[in-house]
Amino acid sequence: MALSDAPLLRALAGDRPAHAPVWFMRQAGRSLPEYRELRVGTRMLDACLTPDLAAEITLQPVRRHGVDAAVFFSDIVIPLRLAGVEVEIEPGRGPVFANPVRTASDVDRITAIDPADLDGTAIAEAVRIVTTELGDTPLIGFAGAPFTLAAYLVEGGPSKEHLRARGMMRSDPESWNRLAGWLAKVSRRFLETQRDAGASVVQLFDSWAGSLSTADYRAFVAPHSRTALEGIGLPTIHFGVGTGPFLADMRLDGAADGVGVDWRQPLDEAAAILGPDVTVQGNIDPALLSAPWPVLEAHVRDVLERGRAARAHILNLGHGVPPETDPDQLTRIVELAHAV
Ligand code: CP3
Repeated sequence: MALSDAPLLRALAGDRPAHAPVWFMRQAGRSLPEYRELRVGTRMLDACLTPDLAAEITLQPVRRHGVDAAVFFSDIVIPLRLAGVEVEIEPGRGPVFANPVRTASDVDRITAIDPADLDGTAIAEAVRIVTTELGDTPLIGFAGAPFTLAAYLVEGGPSKEHLRARGMMRSDPESWNRLAGWLAKVSRRFLETQRDAGASVVQLFDSWAGSLSTADYRAFVAPHSRTALEGIGLPTIHFGVGTGPFLADMRLDGAADGVGVDWRQPLDEAAAILGPDVTVQGNIDPALLSAPWPVLEAHVRDVLERGRAARAHILNLGHGVPPETDPDQLTRIVELAHAV
């Protein structure tokens, strides 16, 4: 089989391969004992920037579960670290920034960094190791969408409602647009590095877009996400959580070949909203990964059935794999998807 015939690539082109391709957001991570073992003594962001380690972690779930794609082991804040921004990932908490970006002069300071100066050598090397090993299994590269990055950067760390980032877009739209425009270029550069080193698909994660009103999403966020993704030259997936109220906008006027749907919205309903020109991805409820297999199996079958309403369907979760998940549940889902 050639890489171009891989079920994931066919599904993104609008074809219906013999079975729905399946992969899991956060498949490379803490649900795997072999991951936890490799990570002992290495900080998250250091692991991301050590090519052998990042490559090995990326490959672990492919070997174990037989998923139809690898997703590159890295993090949405890595391009900011490469730009020289002081950031750490605190275990159990998430990204934390030493200097939050809150005022017009903070925005001046950070946007003075030229995204073209990001040194992607370690990323490119890890991607090359992975793609050589994967052969005809595609590697999905990714980046954070400008709003989700800003939700951390403006706050200085994780928050529930992202009040400061949402506040900035309304009280100082000029600074917001400069910041989000810069973040779009930084994410774009990270995607291009992965593309040039051999990734065959890219996904943009706007995990916190669901905290926005439809009006703010349209006016202050979608144009920047589109800049990050449009014309990248690879099939694209755009994912968000809680984006039901503005799901059609997630197509980014055609810049997204696939749209990720969270667990709240049945896929047949999502497909009706998204129309015939886009592939849907999703949307197993991560909460059901801890349910007895018959309960999970019935749910996965329902997701696969509803996915038939779309032009094509990529089976995935509605968000990431929870750390406490029994990895055998994921393997069973892959076997089921390949058998149906
Ligand atoms: O999906 C994958 O398997 C690929 C790797 C990947 C990671 N982060 C690895 C990671 C991807 C695609 C991401 C993206 C990411 N990072 C997002 C968007 C996707 C989503 O889940 O919504 C976000 C919001 C982040 C920011 C971030 N990084 C958070 C909130 C956390 C969790 C902090 C914690 O410990 O609870 C991280 C850390 C992180 N990124 C881990 C992994 C495997 C855990 C680090 C560890 O093992 O200690």
